[in-house]
Order: sequence, then C-alpha cells, then structure tokens
Amino acid sequence: MDQDKAEQELRALREQINYHNHLYYVLDDPEVSDAAYDRLMRRLQELEEAFPELLTPDSPSQRVGAAPLEAFGTVEHTLPMLSLENAMDTGEARELDERIKRQLGMTGDMGYVAEPKLDGVAVELVYERGLFTVGSTRGDGRIGEDVTQNLRTIRSVPLRLLETGDPPLPDRLEVRGEVYIGNADFEALNERRAAEGEPLFANPRNAAAGSLRQLDPRVTAGRPLALFCHGLGEVRGADLTSQWAFLRALPRWGLPVSREVRQCAGIEEAIGYFQDMMERREGLAYEVDGVVLKVDDFSVQRELGVKARSPRWAFACKFPPHQETTRVLDITAQVGRTGTLTPVAELEPVRVGGVEVRRASLHNQDEVDKKDVRVGDTVVVQRAGDVIPEVVKVVASRREGDPPRYRLPAACPVCGAAVVRPEGEAAARCTGLSCPAQLKERIKHFASKGGMDIEGLGDKLVAQLVDKEMVRDVADLYELTLEDLAGLERMAEKSARNLVAAFEESREVPLDRFIYALGIRFVGEHVAAVLADHYGSLEALQVSSAEELEAIYEIGPQVAGSVSAFFREAKNLATLERLFEAGVDPAGVETKRGDRLAGKTLVITGTLEGMSRAEAERRVAEQGGRVTSSVSKKTDYVVAGASPGSKLEKARALGVAVIGEEELFELLGE
Ligand code: IVH
Repeated sequence: MDQDKAEQELRALREQINYHNHLYYVLDDPEVSDAAYDRLMRRLQELEEAFPELLTPDSPSQRVGAAPLEAFGTVEHTLPMLSLENAMDTGEARELDERIKRQLGMTGDMGYVAEPKLDGVAVELVYERGLFTVGSTRGDGRIGEDVTQNLRTIRSVPLRLLETGDPPLPDRLEVRGEVYIGNADFEALNERRAAEGEPLFANPRNAAAGSLRQLDPRVTAGRPLALFCHGLGEVRGADLTSQWAFLRALPRWGLPVSREVRQCAGIEEAIGYFQDMMERREGLAYEVDGVVLKVDDFSVQRELGVKARSPRWAFACKFPPHQETTRVLDITAQVGRTGTLTPVAELEPVRVGGVEVRRASLHNQDEVDKKDVRVGDTVVVQRAGDVIPEVVKVVASRREGDPPRYRLPAACPVCGAAVVRPEGEAAARCTGLSCPAQLKERIKHFASKGGMDIEGLGDKLVAQLVDKEMVRDVADLYELTLEDLAGLERMAEKSARNLVAAFEESREVPLDRFIYALGIRFVGEHVAAVLADHYGSLEALQVSSAEELEAIYEIGPQVAGSVSAFFREAKNLATLERLFEAGVDPAGVETKRGDRLAGKTLVITGTLEGMSRAEAERRVAEQGGRVTSSVSKKTDYVVAGASPGSKLEKARALGVAVIGEEELFELLGE
C-alpha cells in the first residue's frame, strides 16, 4: 500500500472510531458490536505500525503512550476551581434561593439548572482548537496536578472534539467535570483485586482518586474510569449564554454529560428534582451524594458573582448520609437456610439515609476479627443500595474498658448441634439436620416470590408452623388443612382460606422457580434458570452427574458439586417424592423477559401505589423499555402517579401520551 492510500484509510478509520466512541460513551447508544469496534481499532494499529510517520497524537490508538512519570507537574487554572456551599435540607435550599433573589432584588421564580452531584474527582480539561492539550486535578483550586497522560487513557475523554458546526467549536475550551467509577465497574474492579490478593478500595470515589493519581498511565488505563462534564473555566470564541445551553453543547462536541441534568423553573421544581433523585439514588449507575443547583442565565451568574471559595450562583443540596455512628448493644448469631451462622450486631436504633437501622451484618468470624467489633463499641454503620446494613468500622477512641472479643458459639444457638467451620471456608455452619432455624429459613426461601410464590405465608406464620412442629419439611406445607391453619394464632378464617388457595395455586410452578425454591447451595435465580433451560425437566436434572453439569456454560465446579450432592441425598429425594405426590408439577420456564416495551422511553411522575419506583423501572427494563427522568418529545409515555409534578404539564405541552398506573400494568402484560 502506498502512503497516500494509507493516509486516506487512516483518516477514515480514526473518524469512524471517534464516531463510535461518541455513540458509546456520550450518547450511550452504540451502533456496532464490541467485536466490530475492535476490528477497526486493530486495523488502525496495524496501519500505524506500518506507517509510523502517519501517527498523530490525537489518534484513538494513542491513549496509553506515555512513559511513567517521576512526579506530576503542576497546572495553574486560568480561573479558580471553586467549591460549593451546601444546603443540608430543603429548608436551607429555600433560604439560599431567597438570598439569591434578595441580592438581585427580584421576586418570582429563579431559573435553575439541576444536576446530580457526582461523587468523584474534580478535573479540568483544556481543548485548543478541538485538541485535548492539558488536563489537571482541582488541587487547592488555584493550582492542580497535571494528569494529562492519565486523562488520555479514559475512553469517554475525547482526544479531539467533534466538529458538528452547531454550535461551532470554541478556540479554547476549559471544561470541568468529575472523573468517577460506576458502581458495577467498581464491584468488578474490587472482585478482580480480591482474586489477585490486592487490597480492596473502600468506595468508588477512593478507587477513582487512586486510579487517576498513578504515575504510570498504563495502570490508570487498566482502571474503569469515566468522565462527566458539568462546568466551564475560560472559554474563548464561543457564544454561550446559559448553563443549559452549555450542557447541551457539550455532547455535540463529544463531551459526556449526565443524562439526569434538568432545567427547573424555580426552587420548588428544583426541590422536586432533588426528592426524585434521592428516591432514585440507589438505582443510579454511579454514586451521587446530592444535587447541584446553578442559576441558569450566565449574565445573572455574573451579576451575583463569587465569594472567596464558592460562587453565589450555585449551591449543593446534600442527601442525608449513608453512614451513621451508633452503639453495639449485643452481637448475636443468626442461623441461615443452609445452616450458616452469621454474626449480627444488634444496634441502638439509628436512622441511616432515611431508614431506621437496628441490626447490621458482620458477615463472618474473619470480618469480626478484622474489624474487631465488640459489644459496647461505637461503630460506623452504612447502607448502600438495597443491601443489608453493615458495620464499616469501630470508632476505637470511644471504646470503654476492654470488653472481650466476640467469638461465634461452638453450638448452634437454636438447636444446640455442633457448629463446624470447614477448612478454607469463611462460614461456620450448624450441623443440626433438623435445626428449626434452618428449617424456617428454608421454608421462607421455598415460599418466596422467586420460588413457589406462596402468597400470605409470612415470617410469623412460618415461625408458628415450625415451633408447633406442624411443618418439619417443606413437603408438609401441602398437607396443611383449613382446620390446621384456622387453629393458628391470629389467623382469621378468610386468611386461612386464602392460604389454602395459595398453596393450591403454587402447585403449578415454572421449573426454574421450583429449582430455585429447593434452596440448593449456590443456586440463585439465575443459575436455576440456566439449569431449567438446559435440562427442561427435574427428572433430567436429577440424574445428571457433576461432570455433565460442569460442562454447561456458566456452571462452575462449586455449583456442579453442590447440585449433584443435593440430588444424592436420600432426605432430599424423599422430600421431592412427597412434593410430587402432593401435586407439585414443575414445568416450563418462566419468561422473565419480554419485549412489550422494546425501545420505549417512559417517565414516571408522582407516587405509584402498586409498586415502588425502583420496581417499576426494573419491570420496564425487563420488557425492553427505559425509564428516564425528564420529559421530551422523544418520551413515549408519561406515567402519572398520585400527586404528579411538573412533568405532567410538560408532557401535556409536548403532546406526550399520559397514562395511569393501571395502564402501565397493562403495558407490562399484567
Ligand atoms: S459545580 C463553581 N457541578 O462538587 C461550581 N460540581 O463541592 C463548582 N461536583 O469540586 C462546582 N458534581 O468536584 C459542580 N454537577 C456538579 C458537580 C460538582 C460534583 C463536585 C466538584 C466540586 C465539588 C464542590
């Protein structure tokens, strides 16, 4: 190939790769498979190797090129990078809004842009005539560290801006944003580190900060960093008049902006956004610790001006913290379905992120030892996502005296059987074959939604059935009569009837849910579905060997061993036999996914009565749809719950279909 041809192809390849990067990282809407993208990238590298003189610094192949540094250089920010004043609740947010309006001598509503406050590392990137030249950390606000080489390794950082012409590229653009690691990437990163015996990162923010401050850019390149932009420093040669116009220009230049940003017509609308984000916080793909409100109009921003460390035209509204301190009243051992003893800290009740916490898991003996948690200690507890609260650490300075270290009991606190901890395992287990605590947990699991889905069989009822020895095995459930049930405490005739009907109904169960209900160690909902799909019947699964199981994609030796051991156990086979005799008939595989809402975008406003917002989002996603936070012409449906907000008006103004909760259920096929 001659040089001219190569040059032409290189230019086309770079353009294509930049285009796909933009679709992937900025618009979150890729057009090609990862494999197709990799092919383009490989071809680019091939050509660049053959024609090194045609290599350019902004080529998408040049993300990791630089050698490790001895130390970071410094960068003086043209305009200081400020921090934000915080409103700790909505009352304080209203006060700050008042103060702004008072300074301007205005009445009526102030127009804000509302953005998520991302919990990452603040950075500034400089683009000169579209080319990424310098990137730095915030540092002390005036002088930061030069982390250009590391920022270049981040895939969502364009090395060259896109030139769409609308709006035209500024001659110089200093853009500010947050480098962060998404929650899923963070988990995967820590899992990888655990497997390699490296220390774990405490949270995504620490992981992002540590990764960005590596002297060797190759290390940074191996970390799943991402960028969101939200602010500007000096901009030359562009005519930007508002924060909203700026945020809309950024993606057109190829710079990523959070999808959650929104324009608000006044403080009340902004507070609505704040509450909406707080509700959805756990479901977001990244950590957000509040929202930022910025006066939209740049000329009004200039009129308001800045204080020493923070602007007068913006402030943060913080979410209540996920962590709190409280005291450990006791440490108890809880017996699970498979007999695992979990140490649990019984706490002085404390509100964490809006929910009262009374107990927190200490996971296992090793964790108790590592954190050295003792009765009477003051501890930091945290809640993250939907997971059970956990003890983060002990506040050592507040320990009184020298309370004894905690050890799990040697005998099961419920049935008295010996507790053993097999070599190499973290979990200690009760060996009691008929331990009532294990039985209760097994029944609860059996009856759960993902299992036999026996409505009305709650925890208290299960406890009574086991304590009165009416149920010794899950198969006994199907022999309970109306009289048996009606004789229980606090059981009305009608509830007893409903329960009998629920047992009846549960007999016809999809195979995957039945396998899950059995409570085989290491078999969660996903593995159960894989097994059901592969074998098609319980009989076929029952007779398969560990080797056969292991040959299935996604089934590892641990699961295979556990499944085949389960079906070799005489007691389990007897239970299965009795279940079948009682008419339990597992067949077919539940279709958990569908395409009823394929490609549709929904916005939910107000409170739903029949399900939580998180659940609605999950179900819409299961049917191929997406729930977003702001209404646009592209929105297909706005679901209006009780006391809907301004989104409803916006939907009407834009002519977007408005539906109620009932209709949402219908769309979901329920
Ligand atoms: S604006 C002058 N917007 O929060 C305005 N900051 O406490 C200053 N942050 O150092 C920042 N998300 O790193 C702004 N949407 C957002 C933000 C955000 C996160 C961080 C930023 C800053 C800190 C201020």
